[in-house]
Amino acid sequence: MAHEVRGVVAKGKGEPVGVETIIVPDPGPGEALVRVQACGVCHTDLHYREGGISGDFPFLLGHEAAGVVEAVGEGVTDVAPGDFVVLNWRAVCGSCRACLRGRPQYCFATHNARQKMTLADGTELSPALGIGAFAEKTLVAAGQCTKVDPAASPAAAGLLGCGVMAGFGAAVNTGGVSRGDTVAVIGCGGVGNAAIAGANLAGAIKIIAVDVDERKLEGARRFGATHTVDARRGDPVEAIRELTGGFGADVVVDAVGRPETFEQAFYARDLAGTAVLVGVPTPEMTLKLPLLDVFGRGGALRSSWYGDCLPSRDFPMLVSLYLQGRFDLDAFVSETIGLDEVEKAFEKMHRGEVLRSVVVL
Ligand SMILES: NC(=O)c1ccc[n+]([C@@H]2O[C@H](COP(=O)([O-])OP(=O)(O)OC[C@H]3O[C@@H](n4cnc5c(N)ncnc54)[C@H](O)[C@@H]3O)[C@@H](O)[C@H]2O)c1
Ligand SMILES: [Zn+2]
Ligand SMILES: [Zn+2]
Repeated sequence: MAHEVRGVVAKGKGEPVGVETIIVPDPGPGEALVRVQACGVCHTDLHYREGGISGDFPFLLGHEAAGVVEAVGEGVTDVAPGDFVVLNWRAVCGSCRACLRGRPQYCFATHNARQKMTLADGTELSPALGIGAFAEKTLVAAGQCTKVDPAASPAAAGLLGCGVMAGFGAAVNTGGVSRGDTVAVIGCGGVGNAAIAGANLAGAIKIIAVDVDERKLEGARRFGATHTVDARRGDPVEAIRELTGGFGADVVVDAVGRPETFEQAFYARDLAGTAVLVGVPTPEMTLKLPLLDVFGRGGALRSSWYGDCLPSRDFPMLVSLYLQGRFDLDAFVSETIGLDEVEKAFEKMHRGEVLRSVVVL
């Protein structure tokens, strides 16, 4: 039996998204059908709509979600109907070259549902990041469902499924921030603020938030920023150096993903420091750096895919910190909206009015 539900679809490059009837198959072997309770609006959804990720329209958007498993297919034993889960886009395979070398966070063959969700006329949908959760129900690989404590609110827990995990992990896993470090974070949206919160929990002694929007900088303090820099008012590299004894920060996270912000991250590091790119660039962007500076400044330039997270390890841990009041996931939820308000949420994101709009179903 297939399920006819409502979902938010991006039909063409740059076209406003809208609610459509979508058909979700019953779960086959290794798959799970999830009743979505909440799904955050991430900047990556907007990248999809703008054709910046791939050209495989139509997309079923949404990928930061929590919900309840409704049905599972043959052979699924890790989750069962009724389980409260956060959806992930890293269901590791266990047998690719990365997994076999004990680095499952780089798994190159992650699982997604094999069956396709479609529009009512049978057109196959490409689910964003293999999830597609701006929908009443979605079909995923069972491994994409990570069980967490049901005491967590779905709107907050769902954010772990992408942006918050990516930002937190960019600082803590990829950047290796630990106690005593100085940290700068460029771009204080959902991802950047999660990097700030992660650096704070890991024991950074100075956390410098950089943005081009005063409202975002105010918000960043709430997550643990000790200093803020408005990049419109001067060179952020100079400002970060000044705040770190003239040297630069140990770890700089670029949570914007543009050539100019990555260059800032590159130069705002102390010698032998680490720059982490977690913001996602678009295909036309290029970077030019003096190779002698790459050598002479030393350290590491690292990209952070999904915060180098392992969902089964990290989601329950972060939910636990949240429920203990040590990690304020609720603070990321700026507003809750309906499925038909995603396009409006993109505009608000663009105007910098929200950290996360979260669709609640
Ligand atoms: N690597 C991953 O796995 C991963 C996961 C999720 C999201 N992302 C990416 O992370 C990025 C941020 O996502 P988000 O949801 O937080 O977006 P967002 O739009 O909420 O936040 C971006 C922030 O950057 C600020 N900004 C823009 N230009 C700037 C500049 N030149 N200097 C300083 N600040 C600037 C904006 O004012 C805003 O506060 C996006 O590119 C998104 O696609 C990556
Ligand atoms: Zn693998
Ligand atoms: Zn995302």
